[in-house]
Amino acid sequence: MISIKRATTLLLNGKLVAIPTETVYGLGADAKNPIAVQNIYTVKGRPATNPLIIHIPNEGAIIDWAIDIPENAWKLAKAFWPGPLTLILKRHPSVPKIVTGGQDTVALRVPNHPLTLTLLSQFGGGIAAPSANRYGRISPTTAEHVEKALGSDVDYILDGGPCTLGIESTIVSLVDPSPIILRQGSISALELTKILGGKLSDKKELSTVKVPGSSQSHYAPRQPLYLLEKEKLFATLSQLSKENKSSSVLCFGEQPAVTPFLISTWIRMSSHPKDCAQQLYQHLHILDKTDSNCILVEMPPKTPEWLAITDRLQRAAQHATSLIT
Ligand code: TXA
Ligand code: MG
Repeated sequence: MISIKRATTLLLNGKLVAIPTETVYGLGADAKNPIAVQNIYTVKGRPATNPLIIHIPNEGAIIDWAIDIPENAWKLAKAFWPGPLTLILKRHPSVPKIVTGGQDTVALRVPNHPLTLTLLSQFGGGIAAPSANRYGRISPTTAEHVEKALGSDVDYILDGGPCTLGIESTIVSLVDPSPIILRQGSISALELTKILGGKLSDKKELSTVKVPGSSQSHYAPRQPLYLLEKEKLFATLSQLSKENKSSSVLCFGEQPAVTPFLISTWIRMSSHPKDCAQQLYQHLHILDKTDSNCILVEMPPKTPEWLAITDRLQRAAQHATSLIT
């Protein structure tokens, strides 16, 4: 049974609660309880230098967690919260350093999910939560994904159904001379620029903020994943089939009716970026379960609305790039 009351009590007692959001499920703990927060790092297997996003109930709560709040923060919060936007601000001295990975910045977001918004208002504090997967693995977009990944390491899963957006929030630094996108998400640079009315960079290397989670291989299935242009994908499929190796395929086209290739599973992605994002991790979870030798994924179009999806796929592919010619 879904019980917000139970989730609230567990958080107050320093336990871990998986929370639904519109992006992905989070592995939550009381952000002001350093022992509970330490437990998030332990369960995820995440380095303590990689900070966590604090989920807050509304924009008014920014002042409890950040200082020197620039006008842009209020503008963006008003325009996009609750929603898939995380703001990097200067850390309030009362925020335990363990949450921010020792940094003097803090990441804040009001998630747009009715259960979690109710939980946040009943709990009354902030919920520190990274995505509820083991470190480096595929993010969860259903309660079942969380259950499979974390099992009894999480004290309660608040089942809010499948996530409606499916990929993580856009992260914007507001501690640099002008705003910088540190992670692409469903809120685009264009939408942000309309609200900010001024300069916005997507060159995260220009930021003074370190985002440790953005450099490593991430969102990775167990099998090697190759991200390839369509022609190269078919050439690779052919080459692997000749070597008697089977592939799982994620691409924009239908599986050919008659094929000489060794294919374990073929999943067709939506050609609409929003639908594609919503289903992306679900597809990767399915492909991860197949017993093929590798996963071949078709490169999305190179237009702005595909940036966040391409970013996730590139990171999923990162550890596999050297294995193929
Ligand atoms: O949509 C989302 O953002 C989901 C849901 C659960 O809210 N959360 C999520 O958390 O994706 P996580 O931990 O998987 O990714 C958060 C990213 C990491 O790359 C982390 O390094 C960065 O945000 N981050 C967190 N706090 C930061 C800070 N104070 N300064 C710089 N980067 C920070
Ligand atoms: Mg994550």
